[in-house]
Amino acid sequence: MAKLRVGAIGVGGMGKAHLDSILVHKGVTVRAVCDVSTAALDAVQTPGVHKYTDWRELIAKEELDLVAVCLPHHLYPPVVIAALKAGLHVYKDKPFAKDLADARKMLAAAKKHQRRLFVGAQRKFSPSFLKALDILKSGKLGKIHFVRGAIHYYWTPVFEDAMRWRGQAKESGGIAIIDSGYHILDAVMAFCGTPRSVFASTGSLRAAAKGTYDIDDKAALVLDFPDGALGSMTISFATVPGEFRVVLHGQAGTLDITPAAMNLYQADKLVETITVDDAKVNTLAAQFAHCVKALRAGKPSLCDPDRALEVQKVIEAAYRSDAAGEVVRVR
Ligand SMILES: NC(=O)c1ccc[n+]([C@@H]2O[C@H](COP(=O)([O-])OP(=O)(O)OC[C@H]3O[C@@H](n4cnc5c(N)ncnc54)[C@H](O)[C@@H]3O)[C@@H](O)[C@H]2O)c1
Repeated sequence: MAKLRVGAIGVGGMGKAHLDSILVHKGVTVRAVCDVSTAALDAVQTPGVHKYTDWRELIAKEELDLVAVCLPHHLYPPVVIAALKAGLHVYKDKPFAKDLADARKMLAAAKKHQRRLFVGAQRKFSPSFLKALDILKSGKLGKIHFVRGAIHYYWTPVFEDAMRWRGQAKESGGIAIIDSGYHILDAVMAFCGTPRSVFASTGSLRAAAKGTYDIDDKAALVLDFPDGALGSMTISFATVPGEFRVVLHGQAGTLDITPAAMNLYQADKLVETITVDDAKVNTLAAQFAHCVKALRAGKPSLCDPDRALEVQKVIEAAYRSDAAGEVVRVR
């Protein structure tokens, strides 16, 4: 089988981690990379890879099958749409976009040009998530009636001083809910589907104190799912201790999921502890391999844009709820 010819646009920051995870795939050849930062380009040491500072040139000059795109949120639509229009498949990082309108534009372009558009959120490829999905499908938890999610980080002052586009809502779309929160919403929605409505409240204590950016650094959400399940979620990059946790409460059991261990309760008893080690798995490489397989087989993937659009709808509704101070329907 011919190797998939790949170009990467945005190879600094998270883009470098993506590039490294793509380079380990045996069925792929990376032909070209692009970044406006020469330091980011210099850090790419793979022999024979063409380097560009203008993504338009990369798309026009290279013979590719797919581009991996990892950029500041507001820059996604022009790059993704141009690539799709040029007949390339696109693999991009979360969030889908800085807002729902941009997400819809990219999805429409993928449909119009009949190319695959993958929106990654690599925690879906962690052992804990995959095992939890198996347990949910096995029926051990019964019908889920309550779900709790938490994603908490403590971003360092050094990181905050270099927030650039991330700190400006016009460019990033926000932080707590759309950036970090994307992962927890994506996981919870894979378990419970799209909520009907959301109530959200955000805060920006540390951000406001610094006065340099206008984004949310913490958020609390209440979610109502169509089948009667209720959800709550807390998201923050301004609190310790760090946490990534989803707790699924079903009528037959409860599953408490963390990246290191999962506890299964039935009635009020702990019946099993399953040790997992998400940190040991290269989830980015697993995600990319999953998408390549889906592309080659013409099968659906966990990174399909319709799924990502649902997450983006909830994010949009959450920010509207925060602004209005009321419950907002997800549509
Ligand atoms: N999946 C995750 O866990 C995770 C973690 C961090 C970031 N991200 C996502 O990755 C994306 C990028 O975030 P980041 O933290 O890497 O940002 P970043 O600012 O650190 O890196 C962005 C890169 O894009 C380059 N760039 C900017 N404009 C460009 C242009 N016009 N053409 C080519 N290159 C350009 C920059 O020079 C830089 O190298 C975002 O979507 C973010 O949400 C995902």
